[in-house]
Amino acid sequence: MFLEKGLVDAEVVARFDLAKNVIKVAGELALDYFQRREELVIETKTEPQDVVSIADKNVEQVILQQIQEAYPVDNFLGEEQGILKGDNDYLWVVDPIDGTSCFVNGLPSWCISIALMQQDKIAFGLVYDPNADELFTALSGAGCQVNGKAVKALNIDSVQAGVMGVGTSHRVPSSHCLHFLQGLLDEGGMFIRNGSGALMLAYVAAGRLIGYYEPHINSWDCLAGLILVQEAGGSTNQFLENGGLLEGNSILVSAKDIHHQLDHFTRL
Ligand code: IPD
Ligand code: CA
Ligand code: CA
Repeated sequence: MFLEKGLVDAEVVARFDLAKNVIKVAGELALDYFQRREELVIETKTEPQDVVSIADKNVEQVILQQIQEAYPVDNFLGEEQGILKGDNDYLWVVDPIDGTSCFVNGLPSWCISIALMQQDKIAFGLVYDPNADELFTALSGAGCQVNGKAVKALNIDSVQAGVMGVGTSHRVPSSHCLHFLQGLLDEGGMFIRNGSGALMLAYVAAGRLIGYYEPHINSWDCLAGLILVQEAGGSTNQFLENGGLLEGNSILVSAKDIHHQLDHFTRL
């Protein structure tokens, strides 16, 4: 259907179809680990609260294997593997489990995030929540869907009209997040943090949250979410500017008519 409309090229559509299968397989494996998580050995990475287990590593490995079988010269960037150089213009950006802290503590708000970059553009993004069996998908130019059903970002003009997702980490000073929260709360807004940036971005696309802000996020957490929100008609900041792909950046996405006001709250 997308090809008939001339929206994107066949190479991208073939990868999108593969990604829909790969993310479901990865989701099944992750859910199996989640259901017997007391067996997992939890390690802490370099910063406080940043945890990882064999589940993250093996789920990423399964995703990588399936991509490499089909597309051996595509580039790959995964949270656990880092960058694997290929020999063409495609780059897969993968977070095998986003919301690991929730995952290891038995909370269901975690997901898998897969995006494809074609040169400097995001070609598609998928976020899969195995607990809810919800697959959020967006192919550039073809809208955003949840389990195949079209969804839209909210059409609102006040931060009081719903709940804002907010995230933070120990990669940045607490003042960034606190300043944003103060601006939001002073204007009668409210916030939620469920522990998975990728899932909260998907919720903005699906019209469940008015927006999402995090002072620093990595590309594997958010590239899929960015295109989900764009294709759902929401606004996004220029995450990829100034080395966002490899270094991370701040992220702000929201319903269109409140983006300017929210952006103001991010300015220290
Ligand atoms: C983290 C989550 C969290 C966000 C952090 C991410 P992880 O990813 O998305 O919500 O606030 O910035 O690092 O470690 O669970 O994959
Ligand atoms: Ca993540
Ligand atoms: Ca992760």
